[in-house]
Formats: sequence, structure tokens, C-alpha cells
Amino acid sequence: MKFFIYIFCFFMLNIYNAYAQKSPEELSSTCLGCHGVESYNNIYPTYKVPKLGNQHKEYIISALNAYKSGERSHPTMKAHAANLSDLDIEKIADYFSSYKSDEKLIKNSSIKMIDEANSCVGCHGVDGNSMAPTFPKIGGQYEDYLYYSLKSYKNGNRDNAIMKGIASTLTDDQMKILSKYFSSHNGVKKIDQMITATE
Ligand code: HEC
Ligand code: HEC
Repeated sequence: MKFFIYIFCFFMLNIYNAYAQKSPEELSSTCLGCHGVESYNNIYPTYKVPKLGNQHKEYIISALNAYKSGERSHPTMKAHAANLSDLDIEKIADYFSSYKSDEKLIKNSSIKMIDEANSCVGCHGVDGNSMAPTFPKIGGQYEDYLYYSLKSYKNGNRDNAIMKGIASTLTDDQMKILSKYFSSHNGVKKIDQMITATE
């Protein structure tokens, strides 16, 4: 009898979990275990887990769907994205994009534009803070993550028609210079794990 009660509870719990509406903070707390830890690294190859704060909402949604569909191949991110409903993804994207960076810091940047970036600024902006919400903000993103992304577009690991065309024209040196340039600006920011733990 005990066994059947146990089974019954187990099913009820599953039903409850399936219908319970999770808050954006609850949904994002597992994500912050990697995205909210200072300089947390992807183990192999080694690069920092990208910052999500102040990123465009539309881009976050499209990135999570790209992991779901396999357009972007990263086993852990695929597993996380696969568990999220469209509504969950919407809430998470709202949550991370709602953290805004200081506009004054972005505008007052004294970093000189470089020639290599000429072919990027039309979409990503001179400082990497793209206006169009489907073009990710790359200003302030970790340098080694930007470099890894550019290589991934070039070698086909990341399957995106626009960026594949662009990255395939870049040499390794140009990718390094561009990653350094855009990462030096202000833009996206790391959301501290403590924010959700304390609020
Ligand atoms: C185990 C660590 C880990 C966890 C947990 C994790 N991520 Fe990630 N996430 C990564 C790594 C590493 C990447 C970069 C993968 C790549 O190269 O495509 C990434 C990439 C992303 C991107 C793409 C960022 C960009 O600039 O393109 C989004 C969006 C994202 N994660 C959201 C989430 C959300 C939402 C959750 C929680 C539901 C989550 N992640 C949980 C490690 C993690
Ligand atoms: C025609 C518009 C366009 C141009 C020009 C362009 N990009 Fe992109 N870029 C995009 C889009 C769209 C994405 C998102 C693709 C995806 O979903 O993977 C992207 C993604 C990226 C990413 C990945 C960001 C992340 O968070 O994962 C990097 C890095 C990047 N671009 C760098 C560059 C650089 C450097 C240049 C110039 C050499 C450039 N882009 C030129 C449209 C553009």
C-alpha cells in the first residue's frame, strides 16, 4: 500500500511541476550557476561562459531556440534549452535583457575605431551595442568567447548564414583583433548569482 501511495505522490508531484508557473528568478537560477559566476570557463575548449545581462531579448530567444534545434551545438546548453517551454524562454529573455548598462559609459568611450571593424559596425554598431534586436550585442562580451564564436562560424560549428559568410573572410589574427576591440567596450554585463539569491 505504501508503495502505491508513493507512486501516486510521485505522479501528483510531476503534474504539479508541469503546471506550476515558475518566476523568471527561479527559471534563471540554474543558468546563473554558470552565467553568473565570475570568469566561469567552458572546460573544453576553454573560454568564458558568455555574459547575458543587457543582451537583446530577441537574440536570447533565438539563441535558446538555436540550441534546441541543433543549429548551435553545445551539449549542456542543448540540455538546458530543451527543458524550457516557449513561455519560460520568453521570461528568461525578459529577465536578462532587463538589466541595463550605463548608457553614459557606453557613449563616452574613448576607444578608437579600428579598420578591421568596418565590416561589422553596420550590424553590431561601432561599440558593439547593436540597435537591431536580432543582432547580438558584442560590446563588453568576454574576449575569448567572441574569438571562439568567430572561429565556430568559420568552421561550421555554429550554423548561421550571415555570420558564416563574414567569418570565413577573416584571418585568425583579424578575429583576435576584433575580439579584443569589441570586448574592451561596455555593453553586455555579467549578472551576479547573488542577485537572485538575495532578492
Ligand atoms: C554548465 C554551464 C551552463 C549552464 C548551467 C547554462 N549555460 Fe548557457 N551557456 C553556457 C556556455 C558554455 C555557453 C556558450 C556555448 C556556445 O559556445 O555556444 C552558453 C551560451 C548561452 C547563450 C548564448 C549566448 C550568446 O551570446 O550567444 C544563452 C542565451 C544561454 N547560454 C542561456 C542560458 C540559460 C537561459 C540557462 C539556464 C536555463 C543556461 N544558459 C544555463 C554554459 C551554461
Ligand atoms: C549583416 C549583419 C552582420 C554583420 C555585418 C556582422 N554580424 Fe556578427 N552577427 C550577426 C547576427 C545576425 C548574429 C547572430 C547569429 C546567430 O544567431 O548565431 C551575429 C553574431 C555574432 C557573434 C556571436 C555573438 C554571441 O553572443 O554569440 C559575434 C562574435 C559576431 N557576430 C561578430 C561579428 C564581427 C567581428 C563582425 C565583423 C567582422 C560581424 N559580426 C559582422 C549579424 C552581423
